[in-house]
Amino acid sequence: MLKENLGEYVTARKKELKAVIMAHYYQPAEIQEIADFVGDSLQLARQAAESSFEVIICCGVRFMAESAKILSPDKLVILPYPDAGCPMADMANASELRKKKEQYPDAVVISYVNTSAEVKAESDICCTSSNAIEVVRSIPDGKEIIFVPDKNLGQYIQAQTGRKMIMWGGYCPVHDRLTAEDISQQRSLHPQALIVVHPECRPEITEMADAVRSTAGLLEYVKGSQAREFILGTEAGFVHTLNKHCPDKQIYLAYNEFICPDMKFINLENLALSLENLETQIEVEPRVSLKARQALDRMLKIS
Ligand code: 13P
Ligand code: SF4
Repeated sequence: MLKENLGEYVTARKKELKAVIMAHYYQPAEIQEIADFVGDSLQLARQAAESSFEVIICCGVRFMAESAKILSPDKLVILPYPDAGCPMADMANASELRKKKEQYPDAVVISYVNTSAEVKAESDICCTSSNAIEVVRSIPDGKEIIFVPDKNLGQYIQAQTGRKMIMWGGYCPVHDRLTAEDISQQRSLHPQALIVVHPECRPEITEMADAVRSTAGLLEYVKGSQAREFILGTEAGFVHTLNKHCPDKQIYLAYNEFICPDMKFINLENLALSLENLETQIEVEPRVSLKARQALDRMLKIS
C-alpha cells in the first residue's frame, strides 16, 4: 500500500471494525493526528473503561494496552507494535513485590500504572502522575505505604504530601536523564521561559521547575499561562501536542534527545497492518486481570 493511502485505509478499516484509536501524547505526530483520542495515562484508562467501541487500538506502550484490556475485558485490545514496552515498568516484578509485602505486612501498596498487570494484581491501588497526590492522600494517616516503581515520582509526592513512603528503586531512563545543567543551559538561552516538567524527572529538576504536572496537566498549564516561552521537561512527542494546542507559544525541549524509543515504535505502516490483521491482541490472565482491576477501579473512583 502507498504511504499516501495509509491514512485513508486506517480510517476506513477502523469504521468497518467499529474500532477506536487511542494514542498517548508521546506518540509520533502522524499517530496523534490520526487518533480519535489523544491523552495521558489516566485519560486513556478512563476512555478504555467507558468506551462503547468493540475494538480498542492502543497506540502507546504495553502497560497502557494491558490496562485497557483489564478495564474492558470484553473488548478486543490491539497494540500495533507488540514490543513497545516501558523500561521503568520492567524494573518491578510481582515476586519481588510479594517479598516486599512480607517485609511490611501492614503496608498499603500503591503502584504507578507504569507496571505490569501482575504487579498491579499485587497492589491495593494504582495511580498515574496526574492523580498520585490524591491517591496518597486517600490512604489513612499512620498506614505505611509501599510506592512502586518510580522513585522520582515517589519523592515528588513525598515532598508534596509530607507522607513518608517505602520506595522502590525504579525510574524512567528518559526523564531521569535530564540534569540541572541541561536546564541551566536552556535557561541561559531562554531567560524568559518557564520551566515545566513531568514528575518522573529527578528531584533536583522538580525543585527548580515552575510547574510539575502529568502530560495532560502540563497541557492545561501551558494553555492557561500568560508566559510565551516554556522549557519542556518531558518527552519530545508532547512538543507536537503543545504546538498544536498553543500555536502562539514557543516550546524548547530541555535536552536534545528527550525521546522514549518505545513510544516511537508505532507508525502509520504498522498501525495499518495491525488493523488489517487484528494483531497484536492483548490478553491478561483472568485471575491476574480481576485483581489488577480492583486496584485500577479504586484509582478511578478517586479522581
Ligand atoms: P502520563 O501519566 O503523563 O501520561 O505519563 C506516562 C508516562 O509514561 C510518562 O513517562
Ligand atoms: Fe516508560 Fe519513561 Fe517511556 Fe514513559 S517515557 S513509557 S515511563 S520509559
